[in-house]
Amino acid sequence: MIPRILPALSLAVTSLAVSLQSPTPELTTLDATTSKELLHLHRKLVEIESITHNEEHVGDWLASYLKDLDYNVEKQHITKDRFNLLAYGKKRETSILVSSHIDTVPPFWPYYYNETSGIIGGRGSVDAKGSVAAQIIAVQGLRKHLFDDISLLFVVGEEQGGDGMRNFSSGKHRPSPNYDIAIFGEPTEGKLVCGHKGMLGFALKATGKAAHSGYPWLGISANDILVEALGSLLELREHLPWSKKYGNTTMNFGRIQGGVAANVVAETASANIATRLAAGTPDVVKGLIINALKDTKARAQQQGGDLDIDWAREGYAPVDIDCKIEGFETLTVNYGTDVPLLSGDHRRYLYGPGSIFVAHSDHEALKRSELEQAVLDYRRLIVKASEVKQKKDEERARGQVEL
Ligand SMILES: *[C@@H]1O[C@H](CO)[C@@H](O)[C@H](O)[C@H]1NC(C)=O
Ligand SMILES: *[C@@H]1O[C@H](CO)[C@@H](O)[C@H](O)[C@H]1NC(C)=O
Ligand SMILES: *[C@@H]1O[C@H](CO)[C@@H](O)[C@H](O)[C@H]1NC(C)=O
Ligand SMILES: [Zn+2]
Repeated sequence: MIPRILPALSLAVTSLAVSLQSPTPELTTLDATTSKELLHLHRKLVEIESITHNEEHVGDWLASYLKDLDYNVEKQHITKDRFNLLAYGKKRETSILVSSHIDTVPPFWPYYYNETSGIIGGRGSVDAKGSVAAQIIAVQGLRKHLFDDISLLFVVGEEQGGDGMRNFSSGKHRPSPNYDIAIFGEPTEGKLVCGHKGMLGFALKATGKAAHSGYPWLGISANDILVEALGSLLELREHLPWSKKYGNTTMNFGRIQGGVAANVVAETASANIATRLAAGTPDVVKGLIINALKDTKARAQQQGGDLDIDWAREGYAPVDIDCKIEGFETLTVNYGTDVPLLSGDHRRYLYGPGSIFVAHSDHEALKRSELEQAVLDYRRLIVKASEVKQKKDEERARGQVEL
């Protein structure tokens, strides 16, 4: 929300400036009580299984935890038993939104904490309950300074297409039409992410006609059609758009299925493919894929078979993210997030404890010290991002005065 009327603008800037003036001890140290609470909160979140579509229990628990901290908490249902959580102080419309997701990938791995090594593991310990816990503790420490201007949003469904964030973004539950600053939590090794690759998912579906393998000319092999199509894509993927910032576009043949037995001509075959875009747009890459497959499709149809492409719900181009904050290391990543799904004209940041390399694995874990550092970093990020925003507003205001 960029105020367009000058008096309102200078008011907003003044109040933010006052609240940020004195550096606070909360920004540089974590006392023992806070550290213990962080560990407790993280443990509870990880202990409650919340594989996508089963987020209800962790959502209920977290809602009551936040209520006990005197937040207004809204359970924003997207289906009967699935809901996002929106928590805020006195004001429902805030300029800062701090968000992460409470669902995890399968399977569930139990929580453990090794005090000797300081390592905490279990499903979700990194992706993204580490972020969730650190964000809550971080915002707690800022309550007396910025509390009334920060909301917390914890969404469901991030690991499977982002239906939680899509629903929040789409309107009905959303308090303000626009935030000034949105901070997202995902495992980023404690660095600020300058952007991530785009995404285009699709399935190839080949159809043929079954026959005895002794008389293949009586059938049409869907497997043959699919193999030919995949061959064309192998060639194509060496020539997809690339960029200096994100490197090469990659294309993963994640799952291939076809036919029923060695002695039967395959009637159907399919492949599920994920493309991570380093440049260009989904439409551009769709065009390249369609073009690469058109000969195979024409040949299949001539024989009486077919080759279809089912595009996944929504692709997106590479996502650039704000990362110029003094004192943070930066990186780019290859995984998708909810960042592009929150519509609006806000500055957006992506930061979280733990590494993506262990995130979806059976050895998902992070160090207690990373979790603690994340609390301090989130606080610093929130304060610095507010200052950057304030500076931009002032510059803009000066520009307007000169006009
Ligand atoms: C969000 O969820 C609500 C409640 O189920 C539903 O009415 C609405 O259509 C959803 N909106 C989107 C865009 O999914
Ligand atoms: C805990 O960590 C220490 C130090 O890395 C290691 O020696 C020990 O085996 C670990 N304990 C368990 C139960 O894994
Ligand atoms: C991108 O692809 C080219 C050609 O296949 C290869 O030589 C290069 O090493 C790749 N770059 C990266 C960053 O992977
Ligand atoms: Zn995640």
